[in-house]
Amino acid sequence: MTQTEEIKRRRTFAIISHPDAGKTTLTEKLLLFGGAIHVAGAVKNNKIKKTATSDWMEIEKQRGISVATSVMGFEYEGYKINILDTPGHQDFAEDTYRTLTAVDSVIIVVDVAKGVEQQTRKLMEVCRMRNTPVIIFVNKLDREGRDPFDILDELEQELKIDVRPLSWPINIGAKFKGVYNIYENAIDLFTPDKQRVSERVEINDVNDPRIDEAVGEADAAKLREDLDLIEGVYPAFDKEEYLKGAVAPVFFGSALNTFGVKELLDCFVEIAPSPRPVVTDERTVNPDDPTFSGFVFKIHANMDPNHRSCIAFLKVCSGKFERNKVYKHVRSGKPLKVSSPTAFMAQRKDIVDEAWPGDIVGIPDTGNFKIGDTVTEGEVLHFNGIPSFSPEMFKYIENTDPMKSKQLEKGIQQLMDEGVAQLFVNKFNNRKIIGTVGQLQFEVIQYRLLHEYGAQCRWEPLSLYKACWIDSDDAEALEAFKRRKQQYMAVDRAGRDVFLADSNYVLQMAQHDFPAIKFSFSSEY
Ligand code: G4P
Repeated sequence: MTQTEEIKRRRTFAIISHPDAGKTTLTEKLLLFGGAIHVAGAVKNNKIKKTATSDWMEIEKQRGISVATSVMGFEYEGYKINILDTPGHQDFAEDTYRTLTAVDSVIIVVDVAKGVEQQTRKLMEVCRMRNTPVIIFVNKLDREGRDPFDILDELEQELKIDVRPLSWPINIGAKFKGVYNIYENAIDLFTPDKQRVSERVEINDVNDPRIDEAVGEADAAKLREDLDLIEGVYPAFDKEEYLKGAVAPVFFGSALNTFGVKELLDCFVEIAPSPRPVVTDERTVNPDDPTFSGFVFKIHANMDPNHRSCIAFLKVCSGKFERNKVYKHVRSGKPLKVSSPTAFMAQRKDIVDEAWPGDIVGIPDTGNFKIGDTVTEGEVLHFNGIPSFSPEMFKYIENTDPMKSKQLEKGIQQLMDEGVAQLFVNKFNNRKIIGTVGQLQFEVIQYRLLHEYGAQCRWEPLSLYKACWIDSDDAEALEAFKRRKQQYMAVDRAGRDVFLADSNYVLQMAQHDFPAIKFSFSSEY
């Protein structure tokens, strides 16, 4: 197969949702269709269990196991599909944001009873920033839920994206009979079954009497009415608009019952984009460029304290990646030869000899990689767009063993390289501040510093509202701001100025008093 053919058949995407909407279940069903697993439950066992929220060791253990499911590759109808898993636990939200920089499209799962939830909204913002094409799967139709038209309105309003239903439910909950597949003109009848695919009735059009036979006259009449309304309200599905991230096709189904999942998958492989060009500081990299390039979007640490090893996840962006070929690690300028790169097929990790754009390669690492690092055949490229958001929680980190300050320093630096949390240095008192998304990370950091680096730390509370990266075209105004807010100024690891606002009020006042300053709540590595 040529490089172009390899690229064309690749679909690299993530499934995202608010916890409990059904992401794991849907992932698993897609893997069943791809023949990557044979029984339901295989992925589920790797899931971070909800009961473990206070027991982070347990979570880390499970995260360790889940390295195998971090990327799930499988073949389906001639397509090579790579699903990038994202952690469900919201304390690991930063991981998810970074993973979204490595996908070409996403599927969002929404619970029909709960509608759009907080985490979904936030994830959608990241997709919007990058114009990532989005398909929405409304799940749990076998349960009582909301009116599908209401759900569509809510999706549009809350996710700020136009929607276009491509399938439509016939009733919901106990009376749920199936879905009409608008995209393929067929009715899929609902037969609740956790392992098998439902029955399909092919029809010519919406007036076909076979619909009445299949679901009864009353429901058939209601379906025709709904479809009329849909055709009247929503413009016809336009693939180009979807690819631009302007409209999201919507499917209805039940992941648990394997219902509507195959329809979703069939449509997905057809319309979802193959690897797209990626912007770097230097130039736009096209997947079919002849030379290899890729970037690291995630680093996964091994929890074994006896040997500190990580896997760096590299997304191939152009050319062909080959085992044992000498590449350039752009940040250090050093040559890089990977003798045992791994690819992720279903739940196995295999050594691979080659990989194509869209594929994810796992590179064993002993602390040389940093998130955002570029690997090329020699060209200097910097991929941009790996965001880092303002943390939600902040604490001063203090050394409690003066003999081990070097170890502590090294440990902090490496954990930050892995993207476990963010480090800021307060310019006023020179103290180090660690910012995280959730309490869990503080525990993870403390434990890992001790067990992997032999360093001890303690946390000191710090009440901050947000970290804002600041910038201005007016150098004088910037200096004036920094002088005035001296006590609240810090730098991030890249040396960028960060204003630490201790309350929403203070932030709003600062924005009001210093109109020349740009305040931003996300940065790029
Ligand atoms: P997540 O990864 O998004 O957090 O969600 P997950 O797939 O784990 O699903 C959350 C719960 O919702 C699970 O139940 C799952 O079985 C259920 N679920 C998923 N899809 C459907 C569906 O289409 N219909 C119905 N009725 N339920 C669905 P649980 O009780 O939390 O877990 P388990 O004991 O079933 O494993």
